Amino acid sequence: MKNKQFTSNEQQSLTEIIYHRRDIRGNNFLNAPIPQPILDKILDAAALAPSVGLSQPWEFVIIRDQQTKQSIADNHREENEHAEQAFKDDKKALYRQLKLEGIKESPINIAVFYKPNTQPTLGQNSMPEMGEYSVVCAIQNMWLTARSLNVGIGWVSILNPEKVKATLNAPQENKLIAYLCLGYVKEFLEQPELEMLNWHKRQPLQIIDEKY
Ligand SMILES: Cc1cc2nc3c(=O)[nH]c(=O)nc-3n(C[C@H](O)[C@H](O)[C@H](O)COP(=O)(O)O)c2cc1C
Repeated sequence: MKNKQFTSNEQQSLTEIIYHRRDIRGNNFLNAPIPQPILDKILDAAALAPSVGLSQPWEFVIIRDQQTKQSIADNHREENEHAEQAFKDDKKALYRQLKLEGIKESPINIAVFYKPNTQPTLGQNSMPEMGEYSVVCAIQNMWLTARSLNVGIGWVSILNPEKVKATLNAPQENKLIAYLCLGYVKEFLEQPELEMLNWHKRQPLQIIDEKY
């Protein structure tokens, strides 16, 4: 539609979706399949994301196979043993109690890759990282669209990316940006789980007027 204007109800819906989006972990996924038309809507939203020079530098690997998930879950376990060393005392004890992924509990995992362009890309010369940022825009589109369809997504970053690439036979030039777990959920929590568990609190926005 040309020059579409949104109604206040539509505006309110987007606010609600943003407000109620949550990161979902293994303690919260239901063992229920995601119908293909729903998955298609989530992937279509990714394809509509903005990207530097309209380069669309993304690839999505859809994973349902239990053996592949097991290999990624083993990768997570190994990396998490290293990760917990960064914390001390009470923080470490709390860290050990956190469930930080839902690889095997979710019906679908999606590995999202940045595929660098072989040709120069408009807008990416001075700041090459803009290609990777474009992929993150696609992921946020997926996250919000999934939430609007009452599907949960959890982002897992405690993984060795090179081992993920090996597990998935990914091309050498691809870079892993996100490993996502998708599924219907028992509950969308009202607050971030890490806030409920006293790991961190949401901070007020820091807005700088004119200059630092
Ligand atoms: C780039 C990125 C990586 C993340 N990696 C993990 C992760 O490895 N494990 C995890 O449990 N949550 C991960 N999260 C989820 C955050 O912990 C979560 O977004 C944050 O606590 C706020 O909660 P909310 O998304 O429910 O609002 C990640 C989120 C982002 C944006």
